[in-house]
Formats: sequence, structure tokens, C-alpha cells
Amino acid sequence: MVKLGLNIDHVATIRQARGGKEPDPVAAAVIAELAGADSITVHLREDRRHIQDRDVHILSKTINTRLNLEMAATEEMKQIALNIKPHSVCLVPEKRQELTTEGGLDVVKQKDILKEYIKPIIKEGILVSLFIDPDAEQIQASYETGAQCIELHTGSYAEAFDTNKEDNEFNKLENAARFANSLSLIVNAGHGLNYQNAKRMLIIPGFYEFNIGHSIISKAVMVGLEKAVQNMKYILG
Ligand code: PXP
Repeated sequence: MVKLGLNIDHVATIRQARGGKEPDPVAAAVIAELAGADSITVHLREDRRHIQDRDVHILSKTINTRLNLEMAATEEMKQIALNIKPHSVCLVPEKRQELTTEGGLDVVKQKDILKEYIKPIIKEGILVSLFIDPDAEQIQASYETGAQCIELHTGSYAEAFDTNKEDNEFNKLENAARFANSLSLIVNAGHGLNYQNAKRMLIIPGFYEFNIGHSIISKAVMVGLEKAVQNMKYILG
């Protein structure tokens, strides 16, 4: 059965909108674990737009499942990862202007740099995952860096879902997963997966975990709103 990793960045996005203490992603992680999430992902971005250093520090001490730290391959992030020692690190490309991670890492282009970059992280016992497009060359290059894991970017599939481009994007993921499995890489998938498009992904064998954020946090707002309003009405009498 495929595992579910929950990305809680957008709990922090709501907190940062007011700059206060709530909602706290640390509390969200506890609830998610109690509900059955198999791991918790946070993306500590260079601009700290949602997750803060304090969150990663506390989560590293409180999470009972696995903490997956998503980060850009910078020197600053490497030091943070070595210090915090999450279960895994997922390297992603990062641009300041983007709303969310837009494409996969170009591992083919940066293979030698990434190989050196991940060495001390792997030595520390941290699992390294590379977030890449479903492309055979990127998978081969990822394998050659020594990373033990890849996360296939499902954004194009998610965008193409329910259009005549869906099958093409789905086939890319299927072929990519098969190739990566043949190299004995751990294969995860994520980005844009939601309550409609995640199910078809289950047809593809060999995925270890789906990392899902936005759709689950969005649903949480909607399914939790009724209770939240009722609670305030009760107080107001
Ligand atoms: N995996 C990676 C590498 C990501 O960058 C993101 C988005 O932060 C996700 C998974 C989750 O994507 P979404 O929020 O669209 O579910």
C-alpha cells in the first residue's frame, strides 16, 4: 500500500498571514500523525515565506513518524539538515518568485555538484531524495549521484487530468516509476495530487509514498469550518 506523506507548509502560510502563533504546523503534524499520516514534509524556503527555522527544530524533536525536509541545494540548507538530522531530505529547485515548486531538479546538468553536495548528508544517515520530472535521463543521473530516492513530479499529470493530455502524462509517470524501480531507487511522487487525480496513480506499481499538501490542507479548512463556526456561535450564545 502506498504511504501518505503530508506537506504542512500551508498551515504555516495561514499563520504567517498574521505573523502570530496560530495555526501552529507543529500541532498540525501531531493531528496528522494521529490520523494516520506516514510522514510529515516541510519546505524550509530561502525566503521563509511559510515554514520557519523554529518549526523545523521543534518538528525534528516531536514527530513520531518521519520528518522529510524539503530544501534547495544551498550551503545554508545543508548545514541546517546536518544539524537537525531529519529522516530524509528532498532536494528541490527553488526560485524566489514562484508560487510553488515549478519544475523538477535538472540533475543531468548538475550531476557532479549534487553528487558532492549529498555526500555528507548521506554520511550522516539521512536519506536523500531528488525531486525530478518523470524522465529517464533525470532518473539515470539521479541514480548516479548516489541518492537513494527520487520523487517524481506529478504536476504535469495533475494539470492534464481529465483532458486529452492525461494519458500521455500518466504514461510518463508509469515508465519513469518502472525504470527507477529497476535501479532499486525508492520512488515517491508528489505535487498537485488531489482527491480526484490521486486514485489513478495507484495503478502504477512501485510507488513508496505520495507527498500531498495543498489539497489536503484546503480540504481541512472546508471540512473544519462548520465546527469552527459552531464553536464561536456557542461562545457568543
Ligand atoms: N512534493 C514536492 C517536492 C513539493 O515541492 C510539493 C509542494 O511543496 C509537494 C510535493 C506537495 O505539492 P502539493 O502542495 O501540490 O500537494
